[in-house]
Amino acid sequence: MSEALVTVRGLTLRASTERGEAHILRGLDLDIMPGRILGVVGESGSGKSSLAACLLRLLPDNLTGLAGTIEIDGTNLLALSEREMDAWRGTRLAMIFQDPMTALNPLFTVGTLLTDVLRRRHPGLSRRDALDRAEALLRSVGIADARRRLAAYPHELSGGMRQRVMIAMALSVEPSLLVADEPTTALDATIEAQIVDLFDRLRQDFSGSIVFISHHLGLVAELCDDLCVMYGGTIVETGPVARVLAAPRHPYTRALIDCEIETDDDGPLKSIPGDVPDPVAPMRACIFAPRCPRVGEECRTAVPALMAMGPGRTAACFRPVPEAVA
Ligand SMILES: Nc1ncnc2c1ncn2[C@@H]1O[C@H](COP(=O)(O)OP(=O)(O)OP(=O)(O)O)[C@@H](O)[C@H]1O
Ligand SMILES: [Mg+2]
Repeated sequence: MSEALVTVRGLTLRASTERGEAHILRGLDLDIMPGRILGVVGESGSGKSSLAACLLRLLPDNLTGLAGTIEIDGTNLLALSEREMDAWRGTRLAMIFQDPMTALNPLFTVGTLLTDVLRRRHPGLSRRDALDRAEALLRSVGIADARRRLAAYPHELSGGMRQRVMIAMALSVEPSLLVADEPTTALDATIEAQIVDLFDRLRQDFSGSIVFISHHLGLVAELCDDLCVMYGGTIVETGPVARVLAAPRHPYTRALIDCEIETDDDGPLKSIPGDVPDPVAPMRACIFAPRCPRVGEECRTAVPALMAMGPGRTAACFRPVPEAVA
């Protein structure tokens, strides 16, 4: 078993809300392996973006109770000062957001945005060299006429083009860890396919790890190596993507897959019956028990930890889907 690049242990996050303290992440343990793409899936509100935000420590102010460890190469990111963390963000960590318009500063041209990141990463780099590199980066993410595009402002570009620019900016950091939070959700299907192709192509030259958050299991199956399934601020299943999707062990993963299978291409998205857990409620039993078709007595009285389910796989379930019929 190779060593993880990122080791997350006991990651918890809470938020003060009008209804009381909400449990956003309820103690996550996760290994992100080097050079691999980890897909993170789960219904809306399961905590995917919150996990991403913790990995880069980009958290809104009302969040409290950030605890646990996120370790990369022996450094616990949660123990760093804001200043040290900022240095990490410009050199080792990068993020691609769902909506590039909110992440790209509208006041600067694409060239300035890119050369700023490049010169922060490589302090000795001249402006001219930075511009050459920026142009090469734009070309590498499939932007034609790259030199001319350097002079464009974000609003002058199409949505797909802006997302390519954001990917170029993230790549210019040459990060060890690249976190992409639903990077294709705001795009139409054709552009989405192009961006997924782009990720697939980039992985040949990119030596870091990628965390790819998505609602779309088909897309994750196509692109990712490993899978992490989240539910109600917990991780319920992990493992190699092909094996988990072919034979899920957690009933929640099974239900997610069934929804995707039952959803027609143009029909409304099918959803799992029942309600997502209330984040304000403490967890005293299996968090999926109220919606679980396999629920048993023990599921209503104890919290299942992630348990080994065969090589490289875990699931937090007392009554996992049997392997044979999975
Ligand atoms: N700053 C905040 N203050 C209060 N609650 C928050 C905050 N940020 C997130 N939450 C809550 O935490 C839970 C997890 O949210 P998060 O955005 O991480 O989910 P998600 O899995 O990314 O969902 P989606 O698929 O809709 O993007 C939700 O219940 C959300 O309402
Ligand atoms: Mg989200």
